[in-house]
Amino acid sequence: MNVFVAGATGVLGRRVVPGLIGDGHHVVGLCRSPDNQDTLERLGAEARVGDLFDGEGVKKLSADCDAILHLATSIPKVPRPTRKHWTGNDRIRIEGTTALVSAALRNNCRLYLQQSVALLYGDRDGSWVDESDPVAERLPGILRSASEMEKIVLGHVSRDGLPAVILRFGSFYSHDSVQTSSMFAGIRKGRFPVIGDGRAIWNMVHVDDAAAAIVRTVSLAAPRGGTILNVCDDEPVAVRDLLDFIAGTLDVKKPGNMPPFLARLAVGADLVTVLLSSVRVKNAKAKGELGWKPDYPTYREGFRQAVKLWSDQRGTDGP
Ligand SMILES: NC(=O)c1ccc[n+]([C@@H]2O[C@H](COP(=O)([O-])OP(=O)(O)OC[C@H]3O[C@@H](n4cnc5c(N)ncnc54)[C@H](OP(=O)(O)O)[C@@H]3O)[C@@H](O)[C@H]2O)c1
Repeated sequence: MNVFVAGATGVLGRRVVPGLIGDGHHVVGLCRSPDNQDTLERLGAEARVGDLFDGEGVKKLSADCDAILHLATSIPKVPRPTRKHWTGNDRIRIEGTTALVSAALRNNCRLYLQQSVALLYGDRDGSWVDESDPVAERLPGILRSASEMEKIVLGHVSRDGLPAVILRFGSFYSHDSVQTSSMFAGIRKGRFPVIGDGRAIWNMVHVDDAAAAIVRTVSLAAPRGGTILNVCDDEPVAVRDLLDFIAGTLDVKKPGNMPPFLARLAVGADLVTVLLSSVRVKNAKAKGELGWKPDYPTYREGFRQAVKLWSDQRGTDGP
């Protein structure tokens, strides 16, 4: 297939592109700058320069494609993001999704794939959920655009027969993700505390495994109409256990605790609500429908690998 990838140069996209090419697809990667054009060409993709916020341009750029993948994000990379820092991400989720869905319909694509987040299940006091559970009715501001984005996609599934798959990913980590490396650096310096009592349950996925699930979805090329799949690893983990494990792997002291009210002052109330949300997300449907399983089934294997690569990259300065 000819596969159009928005977000092809990102942490996730850089892994998806070679995976798709390896499965015999031709990849057209969207990027905004000529610098990233070189990156895409080195990965073996055909680069096309454009912007998600130019809907007509996106339709033209993807006119010869059979599948469209929305993997673009703009998660704030500043240490203390305010609501203003999240507006770019909200636009990518709402305007970007509208543009890509319209392009997929106009171009009669066989697949539209939407990256989403398992955080949409909200706080369930640590209980198990699967795709038959509804997303939370009340979500913190920074997640509302993700819920809106899913509604846009599902609306076009029922009205126009959009052949869409929504993948709800656990929280990504990899040695080359800005968020993961700043977490490692923070834990190493004793500046990455556990917020609250550390009993909140998180659902993680290594970015390599997230990318593999995307490649499987494209290569299966089965008819799709609004399938939602959770893509998380096999073992939801309490924050305290996760951060202690990372500290142990880095061979540094375990993180201390920070009361939620102080964390709210530091990183904002919305983000703290997200970080304190506790839910266990099942991945059985993705395994069954995609024949996918994570190479890093738990945070232990995944973070051992990510810490090692991150430390190797830091050279002799490493932990
Ligand atoms: N489930 C999760 O936990 C989750 C989900 C998403 C992201 N994240 C985290 O967020 C971080 C960022 O990940 P990422 O790879 O998505 O981001 P990234 O590495 O910053 O890349 C963002 C991608 O989106 C594209 N993009 C942004 N704005 C665009 C626009 N207006 N038009 C077209 N393309 C646009 C960029 O393209 P160009 O710059 O080339 O134009 C780039 O390919 C990662 O550390 C990841 O772990 C986590």
